Amino acid sequence: MSSDVDSLISQYAPAADLHDIVNPQVPFLDSCKDMPFLAAPMAGVTNSAYRIMNRLGGAQYAYSEMVSVAGLCMKNQATRELCLPHTAEPNLIVQLFGSDPVQFQRACALVGELLGDKLSCIDINMACPVPKVTKRGEGSALMCDPHRACALVRACLREVRVPVTCKIRRGYYMDHESAAEFGRALQDAGASALAVHGRFAKQLYKGEANWESIKRVVEAVDIPVIASGDVMSAEDACRILYKTQAHAVLIARGTYGNPWIFDDALKIFNKKKLLLKGNPSDLSALLDAGLYNSSAREHNRHAHITDTHSISARLNALELHLRLLAATHAHMARARSLCSWYLYGLSHAALWRQKFMTATTLDEFLHLLQAFKEQVQTDKQVSQEMSSGR
Ligand SMILES: Cc1cc2nc3c(=O)[nH]c(=O)nc-3n(C[C@H](O)[C@H](O)[C@H](O)COP(=O)(O)O)c2cc1C
Repeated sequence: MSSDVDSLISQYAPAADLHDIVNPQVPFLDSCKDMPFLAAPMAGVTNSAYRIMNRLGGAQYAYSEMVSVAGLCMKNQATRELCLPHTAEPNLIVQLFGSDPVQFQRACALVGELLGDKLSCIDINMACPVPKVTKRGEGSALMCDPHRACALVRACLREVRVPVTCKIRRGYYMDHESAAEFGRALQDAGASALAVHGRFAKQLYKGEANWESIKRVVEAVDIPVIASGDVMSAEDACRILYKTQAHAVLIARGTYGNPWIFDDALKIFNKKKLLLKGNPSDLSALLDAGLYNSSAREHNRHAHITDTHSISARLNALELHLRLLAATHAHMARARSLCSWYLYGLSHAALWRQKFMTATTLDEFLHLLQAFKEQVQTDKQVSQEMSSGR
């Protein structure tokens, strides 16, 4: 299986503007100083094929989907597979969810055994707002039970030598911002860093993420903070970093159809660092003045991707992603949303999205993709002929 994936990468990545996976030589958190853009955990999305695409686009670290500690303790095979990196992945941050310290400790032992040196960090999910999870006191519900949340951190620390971090929200109830106080308690319990999603749990994913609330956590704790929320473009990734003064950034929905976002963000980050000799407050002023970010592009993911990556690179990336899904034995139903994301903003996308919705096998997806590529080619020829007046 690994050689399949390796040969797919060497065969298809160059035409998709993607490069080899980089394995950082410094520990997680230290490496964020120079490479602050991380591939966020997304249940139902960030399987190994998805993470490999993000790594090829420049992410130095990627999180697993959230993994149930109860499932791991029951030796559930599907749960175990969620936290297994593919051989092509040099490292992985495993995110665990649950509420029982004993189960967390056992799960950490198992994950440590399964991953060995590939385990970079254990992250505890204290952010998931889904009622199925919160009604059991798990995910964001832990923000209402700081004693238990701290006990989970201590339980993990008893078992692993890698950093233990927590992902939290701005607060649980609407307009009750508790992240700073809660974050301090987690720090005292031994958490090495906090990822903060600037929305209340009750907001789910609606409304705007409040970056000021993330900054308040940065000011309240002494450990690194990783900012999350509304990072839809490479510019957003740099803007949230400097607006919040966070240590690193999680890129979640901004990766949809855009695995290059990590490299693109790093280019802006390095350029600005050079320009300002690393003075973040100057950079913040520069961002406000809009000197490097055209406000017309704000939250315009499509404009951003098409400016930087050709249609042909986007369609080649989709092809690689589809092939990786099949090579890693993922369910091909996942390919439907991928097609819709990579086609975002292209001509005839709505019609083709419907066609992709009917596909079930790799061959069917590839066949439709080939037909779409031909349509793009025909459109290009017609428009060239029209502009040359033929
Ligand atoms: C489909 C989906 C699944 C997610 N699953 C998880 C998860 O398993 N664990 C977690 O901590 N956050 C999860 N998140 C939250 C993201 O990691 C991120 O914090 C959130 O989407 C805010 O970032 P964004 O507005 O830039 O997308 C998920 C988000 C989405 C959209």
